[in-house]
Amino acid sequence: PIPIFTTVASYREWRHKARMQGKSVGFVPTMGALHEGHLSLVRGSLAENDLTVLSIFVNPAQFAPHEDLATYPRTLEQDLRILLEQKIQSPKSSELRSASAVFLPTVTEMYPLGISQDVSSQKGTFVEVKDFSEQMEGKTRPTFFRGVATVVTKLFNAIEPTNAYFGQKDIQQALLLRRMVTDLLLSHPSPQNLRIIPTARDPRDNLALSSRNTYLSTEGRAVAGTLYKALKTVQEAWEQGKTKAECIKLGEKIIEEVKEKSDDVEIKLDYIEMNDSTDFEVLSDGLTKVSCSSGYREGEGGSPIILSGAMWVDKTRLIDNILLGDS
Ligand code: PAJ
Repeated sequence: PIPIFTTVASYREWRHKARMQGKSVGFVPTMGALHEGHLSLVRGSLAENDLTVLSIFVNPAQFAPHEDLATYPRTLEQDLRILLEQKIQSPKSSELRSASAVFLPTVTEMYPLGISQDVSSQKGTFVEVKDFSEQMEGKTRPTFFRGVATVVTKLFNAIEPTNAYFGQKDIQQALLLRRMVTDLLLSHPSPQNLRIIPTARDPRDNLALSSRNTYLSTEGRAVAGTLYKALKTVQEAWEQGKTKAECIKLGEKIIEEVKEKSDDVEIKLDYIEMNDSTDFEVLSDGLTKVSCSSGYREGEGGSPIILSGAMWVDKTRLIDNILLGDS
């Protein structure tokens, strides 16, 4: 059976042994309710590291008081089972490699002073990535990235990973954490060892997999793929040379049409936007693919544009993104 560590101290003994044996450690942080998206990160880690550690911790600090902390899906037994089903051929021998350890801390272990979801009554140390936290997801969820940056700093210090794996599904999170690792001079992982893995989707309609998809009703699930469809429409218009504002209007129209036809489910677009992937600045409305590539943003230093969106389906908030100019 796989070791499950609930304290940092017990994990560190295991980590010490791995270091003595010169073994690399890949790390996949999660909040559990594992699905194929998480598992693609696990396989990425198995392929590149001698050992793989997965953490499961539903982090109170990244949920606002009105959000779904209490109802967030918790499926530990199933998570452990499907985690252990992931096996890949070890590059060095004929052995099959699977995850080596699970880190499953309590809230007190991660927040010794306790943790309030209300920022104004929190105590202790927090990490803020200034300026990067306010755009895109940060507009709707102003304290979210503070919670994420704080817990991931703690997890990195506890786990000491050689490489860490994040999903493109949450692109702002991944890029913000890379910024944080750079700014705080962290070395485990180093910024280039923070890996970003492509979004895993439901092949039926390309809906991005998410633990929150389990909240959707049958009717809700039937229309959830609309967000990706809208983003694809924006991408195609962008490739054809339309301005940013025109492209986004076309995407919004896709969602509007489905919304009008849906009686049993309430759809509401939160935003569709295009942002620079280096500083998350909103691109100006008149920009086109051509005006970008001739010097301004796209392609400069190989940094793509983030086309992202968020949409409510009844009480479930879905997010998705496509990277433009990503080769
Ligand atoms: P969670 O939502 O459980 O996601 C864990 C990791 O899986 C994140 O890096 C996320 O981007 C990735 N992921 C989720 N859905 C994916 C998909 N469809 N395809 C590819 N990757 C996907 O993100 C968090 O947890 C938390 O914020 C955390 C980083 C653990 C900090 O608490």
